[in-house]
Amino acid sequence: MLKVKNLSISSKGSKQRLLDKVSFCVGEKEIHCILGKNGSGKSALAYALMGLNRHSYDSGEIRFRKRNITKKKTSERAKLGMTLAFQEPARFEGLTVRDFLKAGKSSVSEAEIVKTLNFVGLNGKEFIDRKLDEKLSGGERKRIEIASVIILKPKLMILDEPDASLDIIMYNELYDLLLNVRKMLGCSILLITHREEAGLIADNATLLENGKAVKSGTFRHVMRTYCEHEGKRERCLAFKAMSFKTIN
Ligand SMILES: Nc1ncnc2c1ncn2[C@@H]1O[C@H](COP(=O)(O)OP(=O)(O)OP(=O)(O)O)[C@@H](O)[C@H]1O
Ligand SMILES: [Mg+2]
Repeated sequence: MLKVKNLSISSKGSKQRLLDKVSFCVGEKEIHCILGKNGSGKSALAYALMGLNRHSYDSGEIRFRKRNITKKKTSERAKLGMTLAFQEPARFEGLTVRDFLKAGKSSVSEAEIVKTLNFVGLNGKEFIDRKLDEKLSGGERKRIEIASVIILKPKLMILDEPDASLDIIMYNELYDLLLNVRKMLGCSILLITHREEAGLIADNATLLENGKAVKSGTFRHVMRTYCEHEGKRERCLAFKAMSFKTIN
């Protein structure tokens, strides 16, 4: 589905290397986590995959569905089936949920909007007329964001920390929702996260450190390396003992 080979990018102004020869693969219907500390380059990777020119491309190759998309525009990548939900999405305050969901795909029908909202666990008939404002809870916002991505029926969903700032019940619900999305759309998911609990749904993972992909493989192995590198010995042992249920 996605093959990244030796991808290097730098910041536009200071020419600081943000990603250094990053390589990893995401298979069909795979949930692949990108792990790494704050500032390790996770969001920079998401932007680069989507072709958003926030940084300058240095070298390497991105292949998506067997095509070389390294030089393709964001709109072309989107047409091929790649979508990104930002870490800090634009707020679009005051817009109704209907208009927000139509913004990505104007041809979407009223019935499909209601159905998609129901699918993400919201009452579609009620929420379609709600405004995007501070009255929505954090969890409701996340669900609406995910609905906006589902409506595009992507082949690869890139989600930048959708589980940040959610409490334990909420992120478990979010993970269940992601499994259901994969089942319904048959898509792959690139999940950027800090949370080790993502191992409940992830197949594989890649660990970024200072812009380098230092480990890629099964979630469990990569998380163990992450804990070792961070000096969290007890966690490391827990990961050795733990067997995750991987649901395919
Ligand atoms: N346009 C830019 N110019 C210079 N440096 C940048 C630019 N964008 C990001 N950086 C730096 O690149 C590094 C990686 O940033 P990035 O946002 O990708 O981190 P992250 O892994 O997503 O972190 P977090 O977990 O906090 O979201 C950081 O040190 C950041 O300050
Ligand atoms: Mg980030």
